[in-house]
Amino acid sequence: MIGIDITQIGRIEKLYLKWGEKGLGKFLSQKEINIAKTPTTIAGFWAAKEAASKALGTGIGKECSFSDIKIKKLPSGQPIIKYKKHIRKKFKILNSHLSITHDGGFAIAVVVNEVKK
Ligand SMILES: CC(C)(COP(=O)(O)OP(=O)(O)OC[C@H]1O[C@@H](n2cnc3c(N)ncnc32)[C@H](O)[C@@H]1OP(=O)(O)O)[C@@H](O)C(=O)NCCC(=O)NCCS
Repeated sequence: MIGIDITQIGRIEKLYLKWGEKGLGKFLSQKEINIAKTPTTIAGFWAAKEAASKALGTGIGKECSFSDIKIKKLPSGQPIIKYKKHIRKKFKILNSHLSITHDGGFAIAVVVNEVKK
């Protein structure tokens, strides 16, 4: 199961200028906001959650919300992603992998889920 998404960094900057942290709180937890810090990284986290929802085949909605997907970072800077337990159980997910890149004003994320057959 694989998902990909691209996000315009300028869109995140506009959202932050208009709504501040409250706007970021619509798709990130406080912990994720503290980790992400810059609009570039925040755009990567947005792309990561959208990609994760595509990897499930559901998109963001009733079955999987932004808060059902959690992102952290290792000391090396590598981002890691995990769904909440009820999602992992429902979709038989053993492990999830995330990679993020940015260039030219865009952030791109790819998520791959290992599932139990
Ligand atoms: C990690 C690295 C591959 C990132 O590549 P880049 O072209 O600079 O930047 P990209 O936009 O493609 O990727 C950046 C994203 O990679 C991810 N990333 C960072 N460190 C990572 C790591 N160790 N492993 C996997 N992913 C990593 C992060 O998500 C980061 O974005 P974020 O911090 O906003 O979340 C690169 O910086 C690198 O190799 N660094 C280690 C070596 C180094 O620092 N060399 C410079 C001195 S020689």
